[in-house]
Amino acid sequence: MAEPLKIGVLASGNGSNLQAIIDRIEAGGIRAQIACVITNNADAFALERAKRHGIPALFLDHRLFASREEYDAALVEKLRGHGVRLVLLAGFMRIITPVLLNAFPLSIMNIHPALLPAFPGLHAQRQALQYGVKVSGCTVHFVDEGTDTGPIIMQAAVAVLDDDTEETLASRIRREEHRIYPEAVRLFVENSLKVVGRRVTITDDTVSTRS
Ligand code: GAR
Repeated sequence: MAEPLKIGVLASGNGSNLQAIIDRIEAGGIRAQIACVITNNADAFALERAKRHGIPALFLDHRLFASREEYDAALVEKLRGHGVRLVLLAGFMRIITPVLLNAFPLSIMNIHPALLPAFPGLHAQRQALQYGVKVSGCTVHFVDEGTDTGPIIMQAAVAVLDDDTEETLASRIRREEHRIYPEAVRLFVENSLKVVGRRVTITDDTVSTRS
């Protein structure tokens, strides 16, 4: 049997999406291995989560690099050094450059806490509440040069309730993130995603986008 596909995860914070993916891999649901976790924040809990699961964890300080491109070149070197084939942004709060994008064409995914193209960028849940939408959710997409603009792989909708705060909405959206991100990773690993232009189709009968 072929070696499990190697994944590199970039995170800046808590790492709950990282955890959801680790759990799904450990449960045997995804034939892949997280080869490394890299953060740009020394205090990111994602580092601790990785260590607890025996995953190489690295803090790479962006402030030590003169430009975004130089930082991304260092990321590419680390990711390649670990044999990574799929890169996951999991709460990685940095804009990435073509240096990273071109090293992993159509092989970088991101999770965003809104139904894109609505509410890209920072504070998506706050944007949704301020706009007054009745439905928001989350999106897994391939990363391109734009901010949260790449081809959409999966989405899940979440009702916005009258008494929602940013925190309550974020927490219900996060539950859906933890369901669809591992699912999208599984589809990639099983070679079940077909990308034509902006459209991503799933060539897998077992997928369910419903809870
Ligand atoms: C998640 O809600 C993710 O959707 C969001 O950051 C959070 C990270 O949580 N990402 C973005 O807003 C990217 N624009 P986590 O560290 O617990 O996975």
